[in-house]
Amino acid sequence: MQLVLLTLLAAAAAGRGVCADSARVVFGYLPTWQLDQVAGADLARYTHVSLAFAVPDSAGNLSMDNLDGALASFTPQAGQRVLMSLGGWSGSKHLSAILGDARKRRTLAEQMVAWTRAHGLDGWDIDFEYPGRAGAACHRFDAENDTANLLALVTDLRTRLAAEFPDAPKLITLATRHTPFDGPGGVPLADVSAFAGPVDLFNLMLYDFTGGWAQAAGANAALDNAAPSFRSAVQAWVDAGIPAGQIAAGLPFYGRAVTVKETRDLSDPVGLPIERTVPQGSSEDAEEPDASCGGPAVFSGVWAYRSLRSEGVLPSADEPAAAAEPWVRGVDNGTATPWLLNRETRAFVSYDDPASIAAKARLADDMRLAGVMVWPLTGDYNGELAEAIFQE
Ligand SMILES: *[C@@H]1O[C@H](CO)[C@@H](O)[C@H](O)[C@H]1NC(C)=O
Ligand SMILES: *[C@@H]1O[C@H](CO)[C@@H](O)[C@H](O)[C@H]1NC(C)=O
Ligand SMILES: *[C@@H]1O[C@H](CO)[C@@H](O)[C@H](O)[C@H]1NC(C)=O
Repeated sequence: MQLVLLTLLAAAAAGRGVCADSARVVFGYLPTWQLDQVAGADLARYTHVSLAFAVPDSAGNLSMDNLDGALASFTPQAGQRVLMSLGGWSGSKHLSAILGDARKRRTLAEQMVAWTRAHGLDGWDIDFEYPGRAGAACHRFDAENDTANLLALVTDLRTRLAAEFPDAPKLITLATRHTPFDGPGGVPLADVSAFAGPVDLFNLMLYDFTGGWAQAAGANAALDNAAPSFRSAVQAWVDAGIPAGQIAAGLPFYGRAVTVKETRDLSDPVGLPIERTVPQGSSEDAEEPDASCGGPAVFSGVWAYRSLRSEGVLPSADEPAAAAEPWVRGVDNGTATPWLLNRETRAFVSYDDPASIAAKARLADDMRLAGVMVWPLTGDYNGELAEAIFQE
């Protein structure tokens, strides 16, 4: 009883009521280009759903693809919070310039408040990729000022939301890299605790750790025993002054494919050198130029977990870990993540499944985090991964 009370008090103190009861945060991103996949996602398992993405133009005005469809795509459960996410990988194009211009920054904050009212939102998730550091190749960034300007935006937004909605506290969450925000000189800041006041929740993107840009086949989302890993990233944010109770650890509901180089022994593909060209992931993966910057048409190599299950790689209803020929499956025990290898094409896919997701949810609990975040919730298959989180 006393422990429960203490936990509740700590949660209330740390998280501005992010978790108003003892329930953990399960924060899911719903991409507005995958609304047809909502049915397989078991949305009832999520405490927070964020529509991704609202994109600012160069003046700070917002737009969102499929806005009406996104708002109509599900009926929130009682107590479920609905947010919008600002920016994202492609949509961060103008953020550095907007945040660095007081007038445009104000326009953006005004728009966010207006959209909160117009669409009945419970708050905003800001997904600036990345403050003070290169994201998509053509996006400007300002290593000197981006982080301070981001703090100015969230501080202003907090004030505006409090004034506009005094009786209905709104949420501000941030999607972040695995390392704390960069400061002048492009070095992660040792202390980012100033963000912990105006921000309710930090959604750490604990995936895309390796992929086609790396030298060797490795884990998309290592739990431990790698740099970075789930454990090291959470620790880095805690060490930089963000309370564990305000952190949601990001879980990928997808995997990434690379092609390992020709070799005689494929029995343990982790660590093998890879080819420069990324292979096609699932049938949904199209060869396209970067959505924001253009350039050559390339595959992403992404396999939604759902596609691994539905496109014949992991087809068994009873045994999600059983791979079908020519795929073989293994577990990288160091990083606690499964992989798949296609023996014919040498495609190697590092991904997460119910067992690895459960291990991550367990570590989130052990580290006393607010909970977990999911990108994207539409990657699920019949709610299998959401169920794995729930069971923990
Ligand atoms: C931005 O939105 C405001 C208010 O809706 C409007 O007056 C202004 O013309 C817009 N600016 C641009 C560049 O679209
Ligand atoms: C950072 O902000 C300062 C003060 O506004 C400005 O003088 C400087 O040019 C900015 N740095 C960059 C790289 O834009
Ligand atoms: C990795 O762990 C799995 C599950 O615990 C086990 O079956 C397997 O033998 C281990 N593999 C290695 C190489 O240790």
